[in-house]
Amino acid sequence: MTGVAPAPVVSAAMVQEAAERITGRARRTPVIDWSVRAEGSRVEVTLKLELLQHVGSFKPRGAFNRILSAPALPELVVAASGGNHGLAVAYAARELGIRAAVYVPVTAPKVKVDGIRGLGAATVLVGNSYADAAEASYERAGEPGALYVHPYDQNEVVAGQGTVGLELDQQAPELTTVLVATGGGGLIGGIAAWFGRRAQVVSVEPHGSPTMYAALAAGAPVDVEVGGLASDALGARRIGVHGFLSAQAANVKAVLVSEAAIVEARRLLWDDLRVAAEPGGATALAALLEGAYRPSPSERVAVVVCGGNADPCDLVVAGTDLRSPQARRPPADGPAPRGVRRAKGELRAS
Ligand SMILES: Cc1ncc(COP(=O)(O)O)c(C=O)c1O
Repeated sequence: MTGVAPAPVVSAAMVQEAAERITGRARRTPVIDWSVRAEGSRVEVTLKLELLQHVGSFKPRGAFNRILSAPALPELVVAASGGNHGLAVAYAARELGIRAAVYVPVTAPKVKVDGIRGLGAATVLVGNSYADAAEASYERAGEPGALYVHPYDQNEVVAGQGTVGLELDQQAPELTTVLVATGGGGLIGGIAAWFGRRAQVVSVEPHGSPTMYAALAAGAPVDVEVGGLASDALGARRIGVHGFLSAQAANVKAVLVSEAAIVEARRLLWDDLRVAAEPGGATALAALLEGAYRPSPSERVAVVVCGGNADPCDLVVAGTDLRSPQARRPPADGPAPRGVRRAKGELRAS
């Protein structure tokens, strides 16, 4: 394209500025150390519990940074979202005393739509996918005094999400590897911008929505088909250019995981830690359980648990079960828990 300036790659300095800008607005979420059994051996991991962020995901970081970077506070913020970004924009608007209009696909989980409404945002249900909702939102964003807050493809949003990486670096300075779920690439782009090549950042996506995986293979963002149980969070059709450029510069690796591994990761977080992650929030952990990413013994690994907005009822597959992992496992010829595939290579993490 001629006449279009290339997007600036988000830098660690931009992430640092974002951290200062959103101090007091976003929570500094805790980390915990955990030992998880993956493929028959124990892996020590640091979990960044970002699902404890306001409104249940990392998204307020980017929303606040985008809004507070504007030359003057807008009168109205406009967003399109499958859920978590909408919650974040509605929350940020409420905290800053401004109006929000959030365009949400009709397929978005009820728990997220109810939350957006409850925060006082004008909520417009439209279309079957994020792309449909986004299309409908652009017109509103042209109103005088309105500011558009993209869920992932604005450098202020990417830099804001990168503050997850900055905090993690301060909380666990010896890390060598950070596993992050990817949808449109805002979160991983920001974390990669912070760490650069000081740590290996690994993108984890379901086979059903491989935006980063496909883009790294093609050398540029490309459209992919999206679907699956984490698609309300990870179902962007194409990785954003800002996140992609930052991930590429940091030499991010990309791996894919099965739906069964995501179900297992959620179950394990709940059974072992009473951490209630949503599917997108448990996706990064699934890479360890399934062996999609196999750290060497010398690696110090962190996993970002990035969201918790799901109906908690689907966490408990067969009732709350505090027995040992052995006792809990179904007999080899018995029925597998709902959503867990019993097949060759069945997951054995617990
Ligand atoms: C819980 C959760 N995890 C991960 C992502 C992916 O983030 P990004 O689109 O910045 O890659 C999202 C996006 O909505 C999300 O809600």
